[in-house]
Amino acid sequence: MNQGKRVGIVGAGNVGATVAYSLAMLGSCHEIILRDNKIDVAKGKALDMSQAAAAVRSHTIVSVAEDMSDLSNCDVVVVTAGSPRLPGMSRDDLLMINARITKEVIEGVAKYSPDAIIIMVSNPLDVMTYVALRESGFERSRIIGMAGILDSARMASFIQEKLGYGGGQIRASVMGGHGDDMVPLPRYSTVAGVPLGNLLTDTEINEIVTRTRNGGAEIVGHLKTGSAYYAPARSTTIMVEAILKDTKQIHPCAVFLEGEYGYSGVVSGVPVMLGANGAEKIIEVTLDESEKKMFEGSCNSVRSLIDTLNKNNFFEGE
Ligand code: LAC
Repeated sequence: MNQGKRVGIVGAGNVGATVAYSLAMLGSCHEIILRDNKIDVAKGKALDMSQAAAAVRSHTIVSVAEDMSDLSNCDVVVVTAGSPRLPGMSRDDLLMINARITKEVIEGVAKYSPDAIIIMVSNPLDVMTYVALRESGFERSRIIGMAGILDSARMASFIQEKLGYGGGQIRASVMGGHGDDMVPLPRYSTVAGVPLGNLLTDTEINEIVTRTRNGGAEIVGHLKTGSAYYAPARSTTIMVEAILKDTKQIHPCAVFLEGEYGYSGVVSGVPVMLGANGAEKIIEVTLDESEKKMFEGSCNSVRSLIDTLNKNNFFEGE
């Protein structure tokens, strides 16, 4: 049991609330504390979820942090706060807005939950993970971005759809940033241990790769007014549980690289061992030339967003 474990969730929108709900249903922790600027909405959702937890005889309590100081002594804090892209707003505009929100949130988290492991979910994911690292001053093992589990799950679901079988037996692998140039790795994807290349043609695999890269946009295209949240939230829950239960499982996560894969000073998605201390180990997979090139492209995209922040003097005064 994980009696006494506290999980803070900043942003009680669709993703944050669904993370809270799935943790409450699983009874993964003793208390979940929701923090949102819309305090009444957070209160309503917290009550609703506490009652759902009681219905399934889960011991988890869901409460609300009316102030950042209520988000104290958390073991894990999930950050989903951020603005969606609004009409007329450029990608860089959104970057600056969400970077400012992240900066403010992380200041509070670092102050009131100084020992927490922070899971970043806000977009653009890799850059927000970088901002959280810079602003918290935490060691890199305690700042982890959620994206690889989601992107791999999307790829696995597309593989199942294409094959028409294999559900629950698919291990798909995606590395790199959570952007259009993420790096799906068919060579490291299997169905019950059988390599994907033995089951599908190159054309079919390429279709899966393209659909995986556009996975988020495909859902936005249907929803029109919002983006995905069930799979993003459930993927986040997997990370929270691996940390709380110290499972030492390997999952693709966004972390700050310090020489791994030949990159430093940038955040990207790589296989990571998750445990009580966060990202306890970064696994280096052998990439072939074309995979290396894709990974480079993805790291360069993240770097150019970091450059945009620097050009706007975002980190000035630190
Ligand atoms: C997605 C966006 C929200 O992948 O990052 O669904």
